[in-house]
Amino acid sequence: MVDISAYALDKRVAVVTGAGSGIGRATARLLAAAGAHVVCADVDGVAAERTAAEFGGVPAEVDVALREQVAELIEGTARRFGRLDILCNIAGIIRTGLVVDVPEEDLDAVWAVNFKGTFHTCQTAARIMCAQGSGAIVNTASGAVDSATPEIMSYSVSKAAVVQLTKNLAAEVGRFGVRVNAVAPGLVRTAMTSRHYLRPDGSIDEDARAAAEKPLRRMSPLGMIGEPEDIAHAVHYLVSDAARFVTGQILRPNGGVAMPW
Ligand SMILES: NC(=O)c1ccc[n+]([C@@H]2O[C@H](COP(=O)([O-])OP(=O)(O)OC[C@H]3O[C@@H](n4cnc5c(N)ncnc54)[C@H](O)[C@@H]3O)[C@@H](O)[C@H]2O)c1
Repeated sequence: MVDISAYALDKRVAVVTGAGSGIGRATARLLAAAGAHVVCADVDGVAAERTAAEFGGVPAEVDVALREQVAELIEGTARRFGRLDILCNIAGIIRTGLVVDVPEEDLDAVWAVNFKGTFHTCQTAARIMCAQGSGAIVNTASGAVDSATPEIMSYSVSKAAVVQLTKNLAAEVGRFGVRVNAVAPGLVRTAMTSRHYLRPDGSIDEDARAAAEKPLRRMSPLGMIGEPEDIAHAVHYLVSDAARFVTGQILRPNGGVAMPW
């Protein structure tokens, strides 16, 4: 039966990490618009508050790399609302450098946020969701796992680990009614990808960005660079009942740049 209400998230309790900016902010907004109570978590507390204030969400200043802070975020949310239905792990960082040059500190920093941050939230949330008998988790990988783009090895490795974590967890928790998926976005216009085109006054040099995007657009059959909302819609689908038969999958909103089996 066709039922559009499968996309509704009425009164579901959601935690979104990285909610202060870019894809996380767009996702928090969209889940709230679909009816969810959204806890907006970000290491940048001011940014988290800004997002939460847009729709009456709950702000939380949390560094996902710190296990105790994550435990307080996830367990505190479940205590406050009496349940936890949705976890979207969107917080992430990138460091660039050739493999032969990359300092160990950069490797550790990226691993701590992108992989271990995702692991901490997944572990804590999965315990609660399994006991509850329901829940949906979406992690954020990257199109970087589908190729070997130079100078982002530490980032790509951390995202490949997120893919594997997603599959392993999905295999373990499905019998408790919990689904675990990931998105692997292509290039999206956010603070993370616009930093190369920042002028000293903080504005973006649109001409420089358009020039840099040109060859990347050509790689997409759609000729597109993504906007944060393009990824938020994919996340919304995965956490909704419309995806009740979907787990352990990597969804690629990437303009068709990569088409793996
Ligand atoms: N923008 C892209 O092209 C792209 C492509 C593929 C994947 N991604 C992934 O999407 C996610 C969101 O990226 P974005 O482009 O929106 O970037 P962004 O920089 O706009 O947003 C990232 C947010 O995460 C927060 N954050 C960083 N470290 C944190 C920590 N330790 N604890 C809590 N919050 C933290 C930042 O404060 C920021 O608000 C990331 O995981 C990124 O790797 C982005």
